[in-house]
Amino acid sequence: MFALSILAVALTLAVIPPVRSVEFTITVGGPGGVIAYEPPCVNASVGDVVTFVFKQKNHTVTQSSFGSPCTSLNGGFDTGFIPVAANNTNGPFPIAQLTVQDTNPIWVYCRQTGHCQQGMVFAINPAGKFDAFKAAAMGQSTTTATASASNPATTTNSTTAATSSNSTTDHHILVGNAGTLTFSPANITAQPGDTVTFEFRAKNHTVTQSTFGAPCLPLAQSSQSGQVGFDSGFVPVSNGTNTFPTFTVQVNDTAPIWVYCKQQGHCGKGMVFAVNAIETGANNFDAFVKRAETLNGTSSTSGAGRTMARVSMHVALATAVGGVVLGMLL
Ligand SMILES: *[C@@H]1O[C@H](CO)[C@@H](O)[C@H](O)[C@H]1NC(C)=O
Ligand SMILES: *[C@@H]1O[C@H](CO)[C@@H](O)[C@H](O)[C@H]1NC(C)=O
Ligand SMILES: *[C@@H]1O[C@H](CO)[C@@H](O)[C@H](O)[C@H]1NC(C)=O
Ligand SMILES: *[C@@H]1O[C@H](CO)[C@@H](O)[C@H](O)[C@H]1NC(C)=O
Ligand SMILES: *[C@@H]1O[C@H](CO)[C@@H](O)[C@H](O)[C@H]1NC(C)=O
Ligand SMILES: *[C@@H]1O[C@H](CO)[C@@H](O)[C@H](O)[C@H]1NC(C)=O
Ligand SMILES: *[C@@H]1O[C@H](CO)[C@@H](O)[C@H](O)[C@H]1NC(C)=O
Ligand SMILES: *[C@@H]1O[C@H](CO)[C@@H](O)[C@H](O)[C@H]1NC(C)=O
Ligand SMILES: *[C@@H]1O[C@H](CO)[C@@H](O)[C@H](O)[C@H]1NC(C)=O
Ligand SMILES: *[C@@H]1O[C@H](CO)[C@@H](O)[C@H](O)[C@H]1NC(C)=O
Repeated sequence: MFALSILAVALTLAVIPPVRSVEFTITVGGPGGVIAYEPPCVNASVGDVVTFVFKQKNHTVTQSSFGSPCTSLNGGFDTGFIPVAANNTNGPFPIAQLTVQDTNPIWVYCRQTGHCQQGMVFAINPAGKFDAFKAAAMGQSTTTATASASNPATTTNSTTAATSSNSTTDHHILVGNAGTLTFSPANITAQPGDTVTFEFRAKNHTVTQSTFGAPCLPLAQSSQSGQVGFDSGFVPVSNGTNTFPTFTVQVNDTAPIWVYCKQQGHCGKGMVFAVNAIETGANNFDAFVKRAETLNGTSSTSGAGRTMARVSMHVALATAVGGVVLGMLL
């Protein structure tokens, strides 16, 4: 499995045009029982390599989410426990490497009992939210709006992003409403902890997670890091019914979530959906729809269409491997 990961790294490096890639070295733990990653966060670009050097005593590098800092992310990476003896002061030390595949935040914690709650967390591209992430890991409220400042932030055992009001939203999406090949609305913004409930209105559709790079393939097929992704399976709705089946997905962080219907031909007709697509970047929702139509539709071969296809292909090479690849070198 690790050999595969390392192969994937090599492949990725071969495919992405040569950009100057930076290597970050993160020290994990240390002499005397240091419970920390040092430095605790980095800003990295696509293609950069993050090397974790495991020192004393017995830590992990485990992916989590902003919403649940001390819970391992479903399908995320995890080194497992890497013990380093207290008397091993000169090394060699085990390392784990990760190649950054996109600029979405990557949240990390140590799974050793109590370490996350003591603030042993790390992030790549936290976009200003590292302090909030760490505070949530340590169970501290991040609210600054308390009227009476008599008490310092109280600690609780919360492992979710701490917000004073525990209000989560359920976003309601109609699938195939009135016989159309649509998700409605098709593009929403949601907070970690929110849920998205899909209501199947007609025909025989699915709600299947994909990636920006491969809009019409299940995440499991395009993920290089073993992510599986959710899939409702086919949900047929009989004519004339007034009870509509639903499928609910929880939003765990602010990373974009890409979705399509895997019924034959639907994705290529633009039956796609996104949560937290970044509208100001190249990978916006409109570009996602166009990719689905270009890659799986019966799109035209006009000059403009061909240009679009070529541009899109370039994006695909850089993003099809979304997420991260973790290789262990022990
Ligand atoms: C990362 O970039 C942000 C600005 O986007 C900056 O405020 C922060 O200090 C940077 N962090 C590191 C570790 O370089
Ligand atoms: C490392 O920590 C894990 C989890 O607490 C434990 O199961 C394992 O035995 C530890 N390894 C060593 C060598 O202490
Ligand atoms: C560290 O301690 C263990 C057992 O206490 C011993 O077997 C090992 O040789 C020591 N290693 C070094 C580098 O001193
Ligand atoms: C936090 O959890 C620990 C063990 O689960 C418990 O002993 C402790 O009382 C809890 N603290 C608070 C503030 O709830
Ligand atoms: C927040 O709300 C959710 C859903 O209503 C509930 O399951 C959870 O226990 C609540 N958490 C707190 C700390 O009140
Ligand atoms: C729904 O679509 C799937 C895939 O095309 C098909 O296998 C299944 O039989 C369909 N179900 C119904 C009730 O039409
Ligand atoms: C539902 O109605 C449509 C058109 O009215 C028809 O094509 C389809 O076969 C019907 N489906 C079922 C399961 O009766
Ligand atoms: C969020 O986490 C839950 C529980 O681990 C998982 O079932 C769900 O699929 C995750 N949501 C996404 C969008 O990955
Ligand atoms: C999209 O096209 C790819 C490549 O031809 C194919 O493997 C995939 O099944 C198609 N997806 C859908 C939903 O039709
Ligand atoms: C996606 O949603 C955003 C915010 O609601 C909106 O500004 C944007 O136009 C939408 N994009 C598309 C392609 O519908």
